[in-house]
Amino acid sequence: DPTRLKPQTVAPFRPIEPTRADTMTLPAGYRFQVLAPWGETFTADGREIGFNHDFIGYFPADMLTGGQSATDALLTINHEYVNPLFVGGNTKERTPAQIKKEMESVGVSVVRVRKDGQTWKVIPDARNRRIDAMTKIELTGPVRGTAPVKGATVVSGSVGNCSGGQTPWGTLLTCEENVDGYTKAWPGSGYEAMHQGWVTEIDPFDADWMPKKRTAMGRFRHENAAVKVAQDGRVVVYMGDDMQDACIYKFVSRGKYNPANRAANRDLLAEGDLYVANFGNGTWILLDYDRNKKLQEAKDDAGKALFAGQAEVLADARASALAIGGTPVDRPEDIEIHPRTGEVYAALTNNSKHGNYFGHIIKFREDRDDLTAEKFLWEVFAYGGPQSGFASPDNLVFDPYGNLWMVTDNSDLGTNPIKEYHGNNAMFFFPTEGPDAGKAYRFAVGPIDAEMTGPVFSPDGKTLFLSVQHPGEDSESLDKLTSNFAAAQGSKVPRPTLVAIEGFPGWTA
Ligand code: FEO
Ligand code: CA
Ligand code: CA
Ligand code: CA
Repeated sequence: DPTRLKPQTVAPFRPIEPTRADTMTLPAGYRFQVLAPWGETFTADGREIGFNHDFIGYFPADMLTGGQSATDALLTINHEYVNPLFVGGNTKERTPAQIKKEMESVGVSVVRVRKDGQTWKVIPDARNRRIDAMTKIELTGPVRGTAPVKGATVVSGSVGNCSGGQTPWGTLLTCEENVDGYTKAWPGSGYEAMHQGWVTEIDPFDADWMPKKRTAMGRFRHENAAVKVAQDGRVVVYMGDDMQDACIYKFVSRGKYNPANRAANRDLLAEGDLYVANFGNGTWILLDYDRNKKLQEAKDDAGKALFAGQAEVLADARASALAIGGTPVDRPEDIEIHPRTGEVYAALTNNSKHGNYFGHIIKFREDRDDLTAEKFLWEVFAYGGPQSGFASPDNLVFDPYGNLWMVTDNSDLGTNPIKEYHGNNAMFFFPTEGPDAGKAYRFAVGPIDAEMTGPVFSPDGKTLFLSVQHPGEDSESLDKLTSNFAAAQGSKVPRPTLVAIEGFPGWTA
């Protein structure tokens, strides 16, 4: 029971300094292994692990019978995008073979892994599979079959898979973030931009269950999905729209979670209410065309109605949110719910438009600690910058003590001086209670040009899985590589991969 565990007030490791080393640098006593790198064959029919690993879901292999195995799991790995230099080649002429290779290299991998002694291994399993840009996915909810999606009920593929979330019934929510540009990159592929930009639910345990796009949760640059069951049994999901001056959202399911009925739970996210946060007065504003008059009255500059109905509202949730008082914030990246206090933490990564180069982490508390509440209070938890030592907070994860672990993403800051003093992207630890609450301790530094993403602990706290995304991304050519991280034997080409980090004492009650 995590509520009975005491929080740490100082870092349980000796913090490390910034570095530009082309490896995974860790405190004394910790070590890492490369697991499930890009290109590794892992299914019976020869499919390969995709590129640019992001969110990692940890589903204990015995989860559906109530188990919590810390040594045997189905992992889901998001593959956010490809770097054509490494995947298929970055020639100007784009051949059908190149495009096919790229379409096969994004999406999600479902991978059975097992800990054998001190070593994690990918093992054969009938459920090992790839969801890619060609997988058939069903549209559910109010936008299914409507004009904004050109009447579609089943669409092709999931792309831009950034962060995500896990549901209590053992499914993955994978979030489609940067989905623009694929029509141009993949000419002739039949790719429809409006079929992407949703939250897609995938059942790692059941390959026969067609993945579902949850249109009731809106269409925007979906970063993440932080899921928790509210006191009354409805399911609440917090989501960020990762764009400068975009909003934070909350979805509340119509139906209630039933621990004894997994089949029914798999339909819970099809219908519900979507809200946007107003940080000026601490309220959640309902994005419902029929129940919110402001949406019916919203007009463009020429005086034309902005929305025809709920399908149009959800298909352009950002415009809807801004039209009714949603507060634009500094690029909401990951959001997580504190396991002990129920407070919701959100990483606002940076916003060059406002000169916010370092970003900050905010937290908010729902009225009466009811996650379905329409009011909340908020404050800043930690500021990035030279004093705190971090910049551009991105993915977050809590351990069961309520300590916060965060990874940075300075990859789009160009020549900003923060990159020099900060070193490579890093992972930080923060106590959330006590005198050092909000103080950042550097735990890990990634290789050159990489961003670490998708942190998740095994249920016993002894392993931290991290994605190492885009090592060597700034390489000009295969002859001028900036990194060789996780290169295959006999090769110098860097590979995105998971790393399994060991050396943690594990949770102690
Ligand atoms: Fe894919 Fe907003 O990070
Ligand atoms: Ca991110
Ligand atoms: Ca997270
Ligand atoms: Ca980022």
